[in-house]
Amino acid sequence: MGRLRTNSGPAEDLLIELDRDAGVPLHRQIEASIRAGIRAGRLRSGASLPPTRTLAAGLGVSRGVVVEAYQQLVAEGYLVSRSGGYTQVAAPMPPAATAADGAGSAASMAQPAARSVGFRVDFGYGRTDVSQFPRSAWLRSVRTVLTTTPNDRFAYLDGRGVPELHEALCDYLNRVRGTSSVPDNMVICNGYGQGISLLIQVLVQHGARRIALEDPSSNDDARVLAGAAGLEVVGIPVGPDGVQVDALHRADADAIVLTPSHQWPTGGVLSAAARAEVIRWAKRRGAIVVEDDYDAEYRYDRSPVGAMQGLAPDHVVYCGTASKTLAPGLRLGWLVVPPHLVADVAEAKVLADRGSPVIDQLTFADFLARGEFDRHLRRMRPVYRRRRDALLDALRTHLPDLEPGGVAAGQHVVAWLPPDLDEAAVVAAAARHGLGIHGVGPYRIAGTGPGGLIFGYAILGESAIAEGVALLATAIREVRGP
Ligand SMILES: Cc1ncc(COP(=O)(O)O)c(C=O)c1O
Repeated sequence: MGRLRTNSGPAEDLLIELDRDAGVPLHRQIEASIRAGIRAGRLRSGASLPPTRTLAAGLGVSRGVVVEAYQQLVAEGYLVSRSGGYTQVAAPMPPAATAADGAGSAASMAQPAARSVGFRVDFGYGRTDVSQFPRSAWLRSVRTVLTTTPNDRFAYLDGRGVPELHEALCDYLNRVRGTSSVPDNMVICNGYGQGISLLIQVLVQHGARRIALEDPSSNDDARVLAGAAGLEVVGIPVGPDGVQVDALHRADADAIVLTPSHQWPTGGVLSAAARAEVIRWAKRRGAIVVEDDYDAEYRYDRSPVGAMQGLAPDHVVYCGTASKTLAPGLRLGWLVVPPHLVADVAEAKVLADRGSPVIDQLTFADFLARGEFDRHLRRMRPVYRRRRDALLDALRTHLPDLEPGGVAAGQHVVAWLPPDLDEAAVVAAAARHGLGIHGVGPYRIAGTGPGGLIFGYAILGESAIAEGVALLATAIREVRGP
């Protein structure tokens, strides 16, 4: 019964199963089904039912049968007749409805890193300022797509996505990120999260047994997926300049996942020499480098570093996402895949979900082609830069013995703790003072290393950032004791 509309025009459809052999009159069966739906909360107060003629046609009964059922339910107070001739659910929502519709739990699961409930200030990472989503420009692109795209383009497509988006993204990535991509090597996916899942499946198909991951690195995507796919995970320590390549040589791995332009979470940038060495390693072993370029668009005070993919398109899979630039809820990501893997990645994508939503892809293609993406980024960079500056100012003022790292780019900063401070104790004390913040520790693979705190600043105003750092200073004073 999921397709009823609330407080709008009449619905078209309503799931009712009729048993013509039951010996129960059909209008009674319809009544009973709608009554049960209302009692269980599946049909909520205000929901519009289909017009009698529509429902009768759908059920293969005469209209009089449906009229009789509706009239009975109106008489019982379950339904009301509205002007305009349609019928709505009248009963107030029974208590069972809240549990049945599950809306609360869905909302609380929407963003694992966002734990703003209960904190005065939350430095949770992984959040983009979605209040800045370029709604009008996006709407123009949606309108263009819906008014100009021929109907047949809305049918199923192959696993790689729509050609317009391949072309628009190739132009953008080759121009701005220095990739060496061609439209035929692109696969559109639902964010990096799906991209890495498809890639791990394909690597396993191609015989991979061991995968190297940065240590520390995110613990809710590649690490979990690789383990589930039966790959052995080996952590490669990360220093101030990104992953330590000498450890990679000893790792006997078939692939490595890297965040070279802004290491997550430490913020280091992989040096030019280390990039070249990783590429040499990949070529020598026939290994694959997965380049997660998740927030490369935000650079503040350092010169741009091009994508590794441009150095070795046959060995590097480039992964991009709109989650940091537009909105994570778009679920739009893209892969530039070495030619020998494209067909398998596209096949994995078809198996996963038969392709990403076409209208969103066409919209993003139009948005890119109009230059709106560049315009949006130009507008957002100073906004995030001011927030980053506010964070660094506040840290200098209140906590000068914390050492910020990875400040030149992205949407988060790490501040390393002096040796006398225990990371977990600081995080716990911060929470007691109303401050949400993550430590680096949970993202380590080998489990050792200096304590550090991850400051996601992207959605916080400058005064909230200053307040958050002041709360942290109070918490740290408490940890240090008198
Ligand atoms: C390291 C890293 N890569 C990529 C992403 C983006 O993931 P997605 O594109 O699935 O939203 C995130 C999200 O926070 C991340 O932390």
